[in-house]
Amino acid sequence: MEYSVNRTFHSYFFKKSAKIKDKLNIIMNVSIKDIKERDCVCDALILPFTEGDARLYKNLDQATLRLIKRVFSKEFHGKLNEALLIPAPEDIKPQRILLVGLGKKTDISAEKARQAGGTAAVYLRGMRIKKIALSTDALSHFGSSPADFLEGFLLGLYTFRKYTGEKNKGKIGSVVVLSRNSQKLRDDLRRTKSAASAVWFARDLINTPANDMTPTHLADAALSLKQKNLSVNVMEKKDVGKRGMGAYLSVAHGSDEPPKFIILHYKGASGSPLVLIGKSITFDSGGLSLKPADGMEKMKYDMAGGAAVLGIFKAVSELKLPVHLVGILPATENVIGGAASKPGDVVKAINGKTIEIISTDAEGRMTLADALGYAKRFKPKAIVDIATLTGACSIALGNEAIAIMGNSRELIDKMIKSGHNTYERVWEMPLFEEYKNCLKSDIADLKNTGGKSGSLVSSASFLAEFAGDTPWVHLDIAGTAWLEKEKPYTPKGASGIGVRLLLNFLKEWK
Ligand code: BES
Ligand code: MN
Ligand code: ZN
Repeated sequence: MEYSVNRTFHSYFFKKSAKIKDKLNIIMNVSIKDIKERDCVCDALILPFTEGDARLYKNLDQATLRLIKRVFSKEFHGKLNEALLIPAPEDIKPQRILLVGLGKKTDISAEKARQAGGTAAVYLRGMRIKKIALSTDALSHFGSSPADFLEGFLLGLYTFRKYTGEKNKGKIGSVVVLSRNSQKLRDDLRRTKSAASAVWFARDLINTPANDMTPTHLADAALSLKQKNLSVNVMEKKDVGKRGMGAYLSVAHGSDEPPKFIILHYKGASGSPLVLIGKSITFDSGGLSLKPADGMEKMKYDMAGGAAVLGIFKAVSELKLPVHLVGILPATENVIGGAASKPGDVVKAINGKTIEIISTDAEGRMTLADALGYAKRFKPKAIVDIATLTGACSIALGNEAIAIMGNSRELIDKMIKSGHNTYERVWEMPLFEEYKNCLKSDIADLKNTGGKSGSLVSSASFLAEFAGDTPWVHLDIAGTAWLEKEKPYTPKGASGIGVRLLLNFLKEWK
């Protein structure tokens, strides 16, 4: 029996088999009320404005309109992500009014609404304001769904304070959406809450340091998602060995932490499944091809792909989406020990191909190769892998885009469209035949890296060898999974990218 390092923290986070605590749901209550702004008892009423349009809200009382006129074009202009809190007039129920900017009315989009939502949330939390109401008049007027604003609001509230002992200070209690209570709005808000909560879940897993997020902890996090409609199986090292996953296991050799090959199965529809594979290196030291010490602490986020997949399964099972999904997380550490793989070693993957390990730091593709090979047993309709695979991805695209490569035009186009919808933008890179040439080995079928030049695309052509003719796309999130500087609805640290992208992709998936 093996015990992990920090049982207390671990059991606080996830209780095996117990229903997981929904952090977001505990902090925030969202409801809909069909009442006038002036009649809503709250600490602050949010009024979104477009630039220069002081007279957006015709239905407000005269006193409030006068107040708005007094500050507009002076302290507040309606620019994107501008916010101003003012005391409300005596004779209306809200205590304060938060003016928040959506930017130019000609540029209004779901993303602008999300950003304004995030800005409002962070501002109000800073002011310790708990009871909030959102006026939806202006948003609806511009054809923007209140759900988009709320999505940014909920995502923006995320914090990670597990290790500081700090309580949820500035915890916000409730948001009341002021609107007619339609079935459509109820559905939209429910989906939004589930998606935001799934992003929070993924962010927590990623931000958790590697001593508390070992493959075992990650497996427990997966097991905590078990539901009637969602089964979770964890394959241990010896079973993995029996199945011939020598590429994946070659990464695990250097670690005392047992690897866990995690499989999730959600059957909300018949037919062959879509398989989602998430890179799940709980810490990437580089192995014997050791990484430089500077910034190595960040390599706890090398399981961000796996965390996104878990977030997706959480939301999909909560929302009971009509899809058939399999999730695979080949979890392991990539560290150094006496049994660690050495550059020059040759190992055999599940599909019988031999791989010469040139760099033990090109470990992600070794684990994904076997996961792709293993996925075939489900006769998938398609495979999507999501991985913090290359430093080159972040050099090419920075924090702003996910790199996509694959063997199916249709899948790539669908994913790019979901990227537009969610603003988790996806940019296509080529997968030319010629890139394979640099992966030729003198003594094995393949080598695991062709060096730095073109490593974003050559890593994908390595994976293509294992995807074979199954429709497949690869998402490299190395540049987007972690932020050094916050964005309007994404605090610094883990972004949880991939969750909203793939949930949107699944909406259209049959
Ligand atoms: N996990 C890293 C990629 C990475 C780097 C993610 C920086 C996020 C930020 C991956 O395992 C890796 O080390 N890739 C190597 C590949 C190289 C050896 C061909 C890289 O990109 O340097
Ligand atoms: Mn690496
Ligand atoms: Zn890695």
